[in-house]
Amino acid sequence: MTPLVGEMSPAAAESVYFNEYPPPKALPKHEALARAFIELHVEANRRVVLVTSGGTTVPLEAQTVRFIDNFSAGTRGATSAEYFLEQGYAVIFLHRQYSLLPYSRHYSHSTNCFLDFMDEAPPSADSSNPGDGPIMVRDEYQDQMRSVLRKYRYAKQNNRLLLLPFTTVSEYMFELRSLAKLMRPLNENALFYLAAAVSDFFIPRSRMAEHKIQSSELPPHMQGSAVDPDEIYTGENEEQPSNRKKLVVNLDPVPKFLHQLVDGWAPEGSMVVSFKLETDPSLLVYKARTALQRYSHHLVIGNLLSTRKWEVVFITPDEPHERWIRVPKSRRSKSISGVEDQVGLAEAMKGKSPSVEQLE
Ligand code: PMT
Repeated sequence: MTPLVGEMSPAAAESVYFNEYPPPKALPKHEALARAFIELHVEANRRVVLVTSGGTTVPLEAQTVRFIDNFSAGTRGATSAEYFLEQGYAVIFLHRQYSLLPYSRHYSHSTNCFLDFMDEAPPSADSSNPGDGPIMVRDEYQDQMRSVLRKYRYAKQNNRLLLLPFTTVSEYMFELRSLAKLMRPLNENALFYLAAAVSDFFIPRSRMAEHKIQSSELPPHMQGSAVDPDEIYTGENEEQPSNRKKLVVNLDPVPKFLHQLVDGWAPEGSMVVSFKLETDPSLLVYKARTALQRYSHHLVIGNLLSTRKWEVVFITPDEPHERWIRVPKSRRSKSISGVEDQVGLAEAMKGKSPSVEQLE
């Protein structure tokens, strides 16, 4: 029996996985942009961080109508990218398409809709069109928006931020591999900060339906043909579902490419930070420690879904091995968007805030 890609050696799994899918169409363009960006910062001897952000999808059909998604709005990645930029890093921001982006995250989505920050100024007397005054930022938001705008402009004008989108888990994997290899000339000036929520299961291309999976009876001329969803989804040697309305999805494990990143793709001397998301508090530290031991990288930042905006745990190979960083209750924001909480946590992670509780 052929082993699953998740059960092979890392090198064999890499070869099987990457042969399974065609590279994303945007890859050559992204590689050209990244190459130029990296060359610029190698010349300037500047540190470059690859921040991954947002969730990957697993398509159920090749011509995708339905997909399985991974939780992540992109808040952690986008907020962290701003802090890296402030610290002088150039940032490659590999993100899920339409997830939150550095700087614009302050004014996006329904809880921070940019329109709520705007007002119409009264028309001036000498205006050629007295009925239409200019659109302005409301007085109470002027300072905050000026500060965000200046940082955003600085990053853009000085070529400090490269935005590269992905959607599916295979696109993410192709992009990650290429970017890591392109970053080799940076040596110890390279940092990997893997905050994206990456799918653990996928449907191999060979078992994927080409067209939209049908939930109702097919017309007579298509019944029993290769597009029958039962045949496509149950796989070899498995029983047909008795109820034709049931969709049985059979997923293979995605190989853990962190191993390949640390031991092969990434430059010598670079630093690799990964995140671990759990929902069960009793598992978090164990899983984060296991990841650090398994991949021998530098830092695992653990977080729980329910408390991720105000507490994280740093798991390191050296003392103190486990360090909790928390935003104190008094500084936790009530905002639905949680932007302020993320800022509080980012400040805490920098060790800047005197009011952070550090539990060791
Ligand atoms: O964006 P927000 O809403 O702010 O949420 C942020 C977050 C909770 C998503 C973020 O803080 C976080 O925890 N991200 C990582 C979640 C995750 O995917 O964990 P994981 O157990 O699937 O992966 C752990 C590590 O293994 C990751 O670094 C990943 O890059 C790596 N991995 C995962 C799957 C895979 N097939 N290969 C991998 O190498």
